[in-house]
Amino acid sequence: MCGIVGYLGKRDCTEVLMDGLEKLEYRGYDSAGIAVFENGSIKTVKTRGKLSCMREKLSKEGSPKGFCGIGHTRWATHGEPSDINSHPHSNGRVTIVHNGIIENYTELKAFLTEKGYTFVSQTDSEVAACLLDYYYSERNPLKAITETMKELEGSFALGILFKDFPDRVYAVRKQSPLIVGEGEGEYFIASDIPAFLKYTKNYVLLEDNEIVCMKSSGTSYFDVHGIPIKKEKQVAEWDVEQAQKCGFPHFMLKEIHEQPDVVNKTLEDIVKDGVPDFSERGISDELLKNVGRVFIVACGTAMHAGIIAKYAIEKLARVPVTVEVASEFRYMEPIVGENDLVILISQSGETADTKAGLELAKEKGAKTLAVVNVKYSAIARAADMCIHTLAGPEIAVASTKAYMVQITVMYLLAFRFAFARGKISLEELKKLTEELMLSPKAISDVIERKGECQFIASRLVNVEKLFFIGRGFDYALSLEGSLKLKEITYIHSEAYAAGELKHGTISLIEDNIPVITVATQENILAKTISNMEEVKARGAYIIALCRKGTEFSENTVDLRFDIDTELPDMLVPLPTVCALQLIAYYTSVLRGNDPDKPRNLAKSVTTE
Ligand code: F6R
Repeated sequence: MCGIVGYLGKRDCTEVLMDGLEKLEYRGYDSAGIAVFENGSIKTVKTRGKLSCMREKLSKEGSPKGFCGIGHTRWATHGEPSDINSHPHSNGRVTIVHNGIIENYTELKAFLTEKGYTFVSQTDSEVAACLLDYYYSERNPLKAITETMKELEGSFALGILFKDFPDRVYAVRKQSPLIVGEGEGEYFIASDIPAFLKYTKNYVLLEDNEIVCMKSSGTSYFDVHGIPIKKEKQVAEWDVEQAQKCGFPHFMLKEIHEQPDVVNKTLEDIVKDGVPDFSERGISDELLKNVGRVFIVACGTAMHAGIIAKYAIEKLARVPVTVEVASEFRYMEPIVGENDLVILISQSGETADTKAGLELAKEKGAKTLAVVNVKYSAIARAADMCIHTLAGPEIAVASTKAYMVQITVMYLLAFRFAFARGKISLEELKKLTEELMLSPKAISDVIERKGECQFIASRLVNVEKLFFIGRGFDYALSLEGSLKLKEITYIHSEAYAAGELKHGTISLIEDNIPVITVATQENILAKTISNMEEVKARGAYIIALCRKGTEFSENTVDLRFDIDTELPDMLVPLPTVCALQLIAYYTSVLRGNDPDKPRNLAKSVTTE
């Protein structure tokens, strides 16, 4: 989604803004721009394309020289990516950058047109600039903002410059993330911490409908009525290194390599005296014992982590678990009651649909538990209970380490669930936990064999379509492996439950189509092997991810990656998904793509 930065201080503002925008590139964007006060007037430079295009334009047209400004990377929603639709937008005396969607922009545009305003872009954002200008009749920025907020519907974070105040940056948010960095005599606004981490770790989290005014003398905060409020400062736990590539060619590869460490940290955080303990997070055995049903609500990769969780919880605790795509859950009148537990899984903690699912679950009186990576994010704060996953900042758009810690947490929860409901003894709980402790080593072993994944990728580099199949946990992994591959390689990939293929899709299998088969589960191995043979007989090229020692009949498998681990079958997804991530990563790189910035995608999806 769009990225916002703003700066007021003594440094070269253009440089700070550009640097901040580069740190937010991971959010996904198609155009960029900045507006900086230069000798008392606002100079705006913006362009369609990547930040490299912005750099080029700045060197051609000259960089604005000043100490106060705002910047933006745009992920198009209303209007194509173009120079004109890029932010900042100005109208009259106001210049803004906007993240989010103004839902009533058509009505507002009609109203403002009647008042004599004209529009140059196709964006909803320009309407916010005009409306601010309209309410700026008394040259009072705070009044203009509070009046505008009464009218705007939807989600927004705005960075605002008023022409008459060349030493101020204003910002406001509603349902779109925005934080304020507070350095020594310099201040920042940003959609995410990495944008200013290099300058300060101190930040303030703007809540919905709160306003900040940054001046050289300091920051002031106001509520929706313009009444001053006090805000608490937070200190970022991230360090600069975590937000940098540290010698890796891409964040995605770096984040894959971090997985053994972040799983370890997660285990250390939750396991006490050899067993998972969630009591500090308000998740008591009593609660787990009395839960009627479990709903897991999430999107994309986080939803795939939910499918692993479903299989683990149902297998061990014998509680019914339904996994819901958040965008469906929120509109399908789900039958959820007070006795149910709704688990929201989200890396960013800001995903609009997941957040709406949480609100719906609360309305229905269900207990809500967030499994979220970004501390203090909207979902983390709104849920009744929260497990903060310790993946650290995930910069690459394609989620890897966040998924890995999500499934680690969900296994631990499944174990505790089973114990609380009397399905396993304390000894069995300890044994399962001990086994899970072996997973960082198993993941490391896969990473060490990344050359083999690269070799598999070299077989996929020129294909146009492929399939993933598996059963049970292997099906859940197939879904994730397929999503990872398609989002960064742009190869058409589909994942199927292995037994389902012959109910239609098998007609697509022809000579040499790769079918990546995940076959790690002993109890259903024979069935999966039959499905492999069915597609092999139709010409498929089979790549198997299986446990070491798995035997297939001659000529069934063309390429294989052996998972060599002592982990029980239920936990084998941890190292196996790592191999799938590496295969996707290398295929993307070999196809000449940038895996960190896949086309059309955004990191934190704050629109429906
Ligand atoms: C895919 C990916 C997305 C996210 C999804 C949910 O690699 O990252 O599918 O998993 O957009 O995002 P969060 O977890 O932030 O709610």
